[in-house]
Amino acid sequence: MSTKSKAAPAKERAEEDTVAFDVSDGIAWVRFNRPEKRNCMSPKLNRQMMRVLDELEYREDVGVLVLTGEGTAWTAGMDLKEYFRENEAKGLGAVRQAQRESYGWWRRLRWYHKPTIAMVNGWCFGGGYGPLFACDLAFAAEDAQFGLSEINWGILPGGGATKVVSELMPMRKAMYHAMMGENIDGKTAVEWGLVNEALPADQLRSRVEAVAKVLLEKNPVALKATKDAVRRVKEMTYDNAEDFLVRAQEAANSFDNDGRKEGIKQFIDDKTYKPGLGAYDKSKKG
Ligand code: ACO
Repeated sequence: MSTKSKAAPAKERAEEDTVAFDVSDGIAWVRFNRPEKRNCMSPKLNRQMMRVLDELEYREDVGVLVLTGEGTAWTAGMDLKEYFRENEAKGLGAVRQAQRESYGWWRRLRWYHKPTIAMVNGWCFGGGYGPLFACDLAFAAEDAQFGLSEINWGILPGGGATKVVSELMPMRKAMYHAMMGENIDGKTAVEWGLVNEALPADQLRSRVEAVAKVLLEKNPVALKATKDAVRRVKEMTYDNAEDFLVRAQEAANSFDNDGRKEGIKQFIDDKTYKPGLGAYDKSKKG
């Protein structure tokens, strides 16, 4: 079962055409859709992306969200004309409004109800590191190019980008990446911690689909609790994390007692699977 959003015109896209998506077999394939502008993030695109995230988050036919780009880019970062220059000309209120719109959907994505995967098909610059970090997992084409180009046009990597590389890369790599304005390819992005895996471009989608299908087999309540826990505990002491995780598990149990019990039953009593080797059969209700 598949639903498609409207086809987009080539030029002067309407706001609603700056993001495209389709849903198929439990996976929402969401695409930055300004290929003629290398999918750079304009205020229109940022507003539309929030609407699309809203629409998909609690749909029952969506179990995993993949974020990718149309054409040669994942995203070429912020739109230097429409996001920066035009808003700066309007004044501080417009600048702050544009920041709220972009940071808002990245934050929404960081804590999204469904597992999320960045499928980086091409250029990924600057502000693009916000949604890249927001996705739980990231897979790139080997020839994708990642860059903090901010330094090349005279600003610091803002909009969270400096935080992203400091979180994901060792300090020397982060510093080099931010100061030099040189791009790295998909393979180097793996070595430096930006993405999970790099693949030949023609294998990228099938690998992402395979990962998404594994996620679709897992208990969705446990997945949401797990992805939030990984982000939350990073800032905690060991003891605080231990306490938080006990409470997070108990909260998750109250949403999904039966699933957890069924998982234990299929292992201990039925001996139909081993949790160390795969997921329990969700189709059998506890
Ligand atoms: N902002 C505004 N317009 C952009 C952006 C951008 N970030 N990126 C691409 N475009 C536009 C170009 O101006 C061009 O528009 P035009 O057809 O009206 O002239 C169109 O998209 C195509 O871009 P080209 O440069 O012709 O495409 P090419 O494939 O040769 O190069 C590349 C791709 C390398 C991504 C290049 O477009 C580029 O350097 N873009 C800027 C990348 C960047 O530094 N982004 C900002 C990061 S910092 C931040 O996000 C805060």
